[in-house]
Amino acid sequence: MSNLDQLNNEARALINGAADQASIEAARVAIMGKSGSLTNLLKQLGTMAPDERKEMGQKVNALRDELNALLAEKQAVLNKAALAEKLAKETIDISLPIRPETSGSLHPTMQILDEMVAIFAEMGFTVATGPEIEDDFHNFTALNFPPDHPARTMHDTFYLEAKDDLGQPKLLRTQTSTVQIRSMMEQQPPLRLIVPGRTFRAESDMTHTPMFHQMEGLVIDKTTHMGHLKGCLMEFWREIFGIENLPVRFRPSFFPFTELSAEVDIGYSREGSRIVLGGIKGQPLKWMEIGGCGMVHPNVIRNCGLDPEIYQGFAFGMGVERIAMLKYGMPDLRDFFNGDLRWLRHYGFSVLDYPNRPLDIVAQKD
Ligand code: DAH
Repeated sequence: MSNLDQLNNEARALINGAADQASIEAARVAIMGKSGSLTNLLKQLGTMAPDERKEMGQKVNALRDELNALLAEKQAVLNKAALAEKLAKETIDISLPIRPETSGSLHPTMQILDEMVAIFAEMGFTVATGPEIEDDFHNFTALNFPPDHPARTMHDTFYLEAKDDLGQPKLLRTQTSTVQIRSMMEQQPPLRLIVPGRTFRAESDMTHTPMFHQMEGLVIDKTTHMGHLKGCLMEFWREIFGIENLPVRFRPSFFPFTELSAEVDIGYSREGSRIVLGGIKGQPLKWMEIGGCGMVHPNVIRNCGLDPEIYQGFAFGMGVERIAMLKYGMPDLRDFFNGDLRWLRHYGFSVLDYPNRPLDIVAQKD
């Protein structure tokens, strides 16, 4: 017993006396190390008679926990002091020359977004936004994804530790469709809005990055129908690519939040490895999927507190970088977010430059 007291006193003196990171580490080794004082005592337990071992064992273990706590506390104090000292000593060299860029440029994502917004603005759409950190209700449930629906797992969601009001983990929105819900719950129809924004999914390859941009569209009114949807999107796709008779095809599909649902395809041909949108005379026309759309599901309208017997409308969604890649010719999506100045210099735009804007189509309006 006196052994134990003595060990305790000596150990505490060592810990308390440590004045820097090196001496607290030395104290730890002297006590808890391979042949530290406490370690030796623990080893001796094995040689004791069962009764004695039991009594002694409890005491030694309790002491070990106490000393460990004391060590951790002191280590924290000394680490903090060491960091403070380091920070006070280190200086930042502010004489570093600035980057030798003479002018900046607009990132292609911002450029294509500008062009997209301009086209929809001409059709009377306004821009709406929503949070990037979302809850299950706005990202899935209100959009008519049933609890165990496989479409949920297709989204490779990033979940956060923080919980929402219902105790479900918060998440990074996987789609801008969340803003359909927020807008319908906050505003009375008629609604005619687009939602450019960042979205997040846990995937990465040539055509997928964990963060990318989408643009959502939503129209809610009393008489909106599929014909409006088709006309609106055909006009958009033809204008954004500057091809007056670009073939646009609506192919039946499924989304939980629309009924009817369709995928939009645009026609193209291949010339070697080059993709020619609109097709080439005499070459077979191929179809490329470019976005989703549909008539808003009555359940979604009801989930937002509106009466689906009165209100109806359409929605659509598209990947923003995908459109930029097709229009400006980048082969790999990942380069958009590498921050490589050579890429930005090559693909960047000067402000308010709208390349190939089909002025004749704009002029035809009204
Ligand atoms: N939210 C869908 C996605 O991320 C895209 C989408 C499809 C949006 C159809 C829509 C729509 O509004 O009607 O895959």
